[in-house]
Amino acid sequence: MLSEKLLKTLNQQITHELYAAHLYISMAAYCDSIDLDGCANFFLQQAEEEKFHAMKLFHYISDRDGKIVIKALDNPHKEYESVLAVFEAALEHEKLVTNKIYDLMDIANKEREYATISFLNWYVDEQVEEEASFKSLIQKLKIAVKNESMLHMLDQELGQRVFTPPNLDEE
Ligand SMILES: [Fe+2]
Repeated sequence: MLSEKLLKTLNQQITHELYAAHLYISMAAYCDSIDLDGCANFFLQQAEEEKFHAMKLFHYISDRDGKIVIKALDNPHKEYESVLAVFEAALEHEKLVTNKIYDLMDIANKEREYATISFLNWYVDEQVEEEASFKSLIQKLKIAVKNESMLHMLDQELGQRVFTPPNLDEE
């Protein structure tokens, strides 16, 4: 049985992951408004991945016989100065999510909740990948924004991204 505190914080993490999806859809909308359709696709795919992160928590809470609580999301609307600013804001958001995962891990460790620690390890590894991928895209974009044909090429590359969620039942 999950403690009340751990259950509450796991449920809050569902909201954080869904908010991340919400934020990335708003970033996709900005990219769309400046005709970077590939970047828009990248953020829409990223939003799908965040939804998967949320649903993985949903299933875990259910498997542990906890009550799932879905809350309202904040308004993600924000004006961005450039496509580079969007990717930088996305990296900052991922760092925030990493801290939330660490907070959860602290609670699980304190409670010696080994099943939850094992479950959360997946998110710890995932956050390393998310931050690394945004960092490398920011590096590429910093060069590409100075050269229109490079920006076009990078946009096309990002247009290829497709997120296929692993089957949760098979895990
Ligand atoms: Fe996530």
